Amino acid sequence: MNKPQPRTTRLHKPKRTVSIIGTGSYVPEKVLTNAALEKLVDTSDEWIVSRTGIKERRVAAPEESTSDLASKAARAAIEKAGISAEEIDMIIIGTVTPDMAFPNTACLVQKQIGAKNAICFDLSAACSGFLFGLEIAQQFISSRTCDTILVIGADKLSGIVNWQDRNTCVLFGDGAGAAILQHRPGSHGIIHTTMGANGDYAEILHMPGGGSRMPLTKENIEQRPNTIHMNGKDVYKQAVTAMVNAAHEALETAGLQTKDLACVIPHQANLRIIEAIGSRLGLGPERVFCNLQHYGNTSAAAVAIALDEAARAGRMKRDDYILLVVFGGGLTWACSVIQW
Ligand code: ACO
Repeated sequence: MNKPQPRTTRLHKPKRTVSIIGTGSYVPEKVLTNAALEKLVDTSDEWIVSRTGIKERRVAAPEESTSDLASKAARAAIEKAGISAEEIDMIIIGTVTPDMAFPNTACLVQKQIGAKNAICFDLSAACSGFLFGLEIAQQFISSRTCDTILVIGADKLSGIVNWQDRNTCVLFGDGAGAAILQHRPGSHGIIHTTMGANGDYAEILHMPGGGSRMPLTKENIEQRPNTIHMNGKDVYKQAVTAMVNAAHEALETAGLQTKDLACVIPHQANLRIIEAIGSRLGLGPERVFCNLQHYGNTSAAAVAIALDEAARAGRMKRDDYILLVVFGGGLTWACSVIQW
């Protein structure tokens, strides 16, 4: 009797290129301006713009969850790619704000978009989640284990922000970005991804409560342990160093130099971080994509939304080399070099 073949037996076959064949994004309708934040905490538009570059951010409606944002971004990416939801073999969602502990958010998106043939799981790597997901998808497709993968970065950070803490609440926003990955004969794709992590710095950016280490209780809820806690200055330093090093490493492995890049899409956390990366890589602002003035830091969604907007704005043409670089809590970081 013929035994069923496990999918992993395909691993011995030659690797194949993996292309991003469609992107999509979604941000909630509600705009929260710096002027509106001035009414919530002791801050000013001038302070926020000069320290971060952020002018406004989007905030999801109370009934709108991460899977709702993710599903809207996914539908846009599916449409752009010209595929049907049934063709998707796997859904990976990078998020730190899942709808609930389980089932995973990817399963909830599967149901919303009708991707009934997809294996579904979430990935926790904070702001690096989308690029970690891209690389996992790349590995599954290049090894011929899957053909079509939907990768999403989605977060509803407004739900875990302490709206009384001016150090953090001005920085973040909600949104989702998605990409469909597939092997398309004769087309380009992801050339190399560098990834890294360092748990020694876990506490400079974390949400300490609400998990198994510190369950929420009547006694501790007043201290709001289930919100973002951050040492901004330490994060800033680590973010610039890690992203610049990751970019150099990824470019070297890909056999490219910064002069070869048409567009760099960095994590959208802070304009000063973005400018520091551009300057250390020797890139002028015209080659560094930035949309954080409109959305703030949307965590795993940030680089995914930026990729979609850059593509739709024609910032990269076919054959162009682009570089995506991210950094987030964990600490985690990643950099992908892609030929569009
Ligand atoms: N409005 C007014 N004053 C503020 C605000 C605010 N919203 N927030 C903080 N301040 C005050 C502080 O209380 C402090 O006052 P003090 O000196 O009296 O104690 C002072 O401003 C600190 O000012 P700076 O030292 O100039 O602040 P800094 O230049 O470090 O900027 C910032 C702070 C924007 C948080 C910066 O450190 C940063 O961007 N860090 C990176 C953080 C980040 O991006 N996190 C996102 C998650 S990680 C990621 O996605 C990469």
